Amino acid sequence: MAKTLQIEGQEEASLAQAVAVLARGLPVAIPTETVYGLAADATDSGAVRTIYAVKGRPSVNPLICHMSDLVMAERHADFDPLSRRLAEAFWPGPLTLVLPLRAGSPIAPEATAGLPSVGIRVPRGFAGRLIAAYGKPLAAPSANPSGRISPTTAAHVEAGLGERIELILDGGPARVGVESTIVKVEGDGTLRLLRPGGLSVDDIERVAGVPVSRGQAASAAIEAPGMLASHYAPRAAVRIGATEVRPGEAFLKFGSAAVPGEDAAVAVFALSAAGDPAEAASRLFELMKRADETGATSIAVSPIPPTGLGEAVNDRLARAAAPRPEKDEAS
Ligand code: TXA
Ligand code: MG
Repeated sequence: MAKTLQIEGQEEASLAQAVAVLARGLPVAIPTETVYGLAADATDSGAVRTIYAVKGRPSVNPLICHMSDLVMAERHADFDPLSRRLAEAFWPGPLTLVLPLRAGSPIAPEATAGLPSVGIRVPRGFAGRLIAAYGKPLAAPSANPSGRISPTTAAHVEAGLGERIELILDGGPARVGVESTIVKVEGDGTLRLLRPGGLSVDDIERVAGVPVSRGQAASAAIEAPGMLASHYAPRAAVRIGATEVRPGEAFLKFGSAAVPGEDAAVAVFALSAAGDPAEAASRLFELMKRADETGATSIAVSPIPPTGLGEAVNDRLARAAAPRPEKDEAS
């Protein structure tokens, strides 16, 4: 059974306990600004294999390697000028860059699933300080059983993985609420979106000065394997773009206008009464879980505009609504 430790008021002790678990080659659940991560020493093959085992995650799906800063990141990846500009603008923050793995980097092959590239992110807050204290990169997928909703609170981690890990650091609800945006600069200079997330494409384009390509490369299946399958699945069915609520449904509502049928809903949860996609992102996973817990057989979700963080919200909702294979490849 995991021990949950509040970070607030005892950050030094929290860092020390987390470092001690990491040094034993075991994973620890940590808050980041996006979602909670299940972190382990990225240079320790055994530790990384334990992450896959704890999550039930297919080993072909590479992990993001988290760094304390750009200096650490440059020791493990070769940066092109555009990637460096994005790193300088957005790190620490909800941006992951896929880069060529640097020759001689001690990152374990299990962390990159054997790919010649590595996904790197510098997280904000406690996670960044933990990496600095530990002195080595931490591989960290979201701290949920593979295929389930990513955790935005320590309680979510406890419910999903509490039986399988030792330590959960509680830093309160995740501020951003959806995972990082993943981009890659291709050999021809194209800046490609691999996963929409907590940093909007508009913000990236403003700094990049070139458009972000959303088209899939021919090799996409290999390059972001975790992105192709059903994902973020609650137990209930999910019905997106709902402009009315049907009998027996729970309702995730966006905006404040009255919606036909909502008075008879099993429960109504406000993603954002103000109609703000960033607020909806920060509440999405928590409210999907709560809607699921009502026992409703279906969750109806209002249409969300695709602008700003709405792109990531719609992406996660589409995955939650997707057909669910018996054995899925999600993370
Ligand atoms: O916000 C986040 O990104 C959170 C927090 C914990 O940092 N992490 C997260 O990790 O969402 P995970 O494992 O759930 O998703 C990682 C995604 C996967 O879709 C994986 O395929 C992709 O990153 N990825 C990792 N390394 C890659 C690489 N070298 N090339 C392409 N995609 C990669
Ligand atoms: Mg995940």
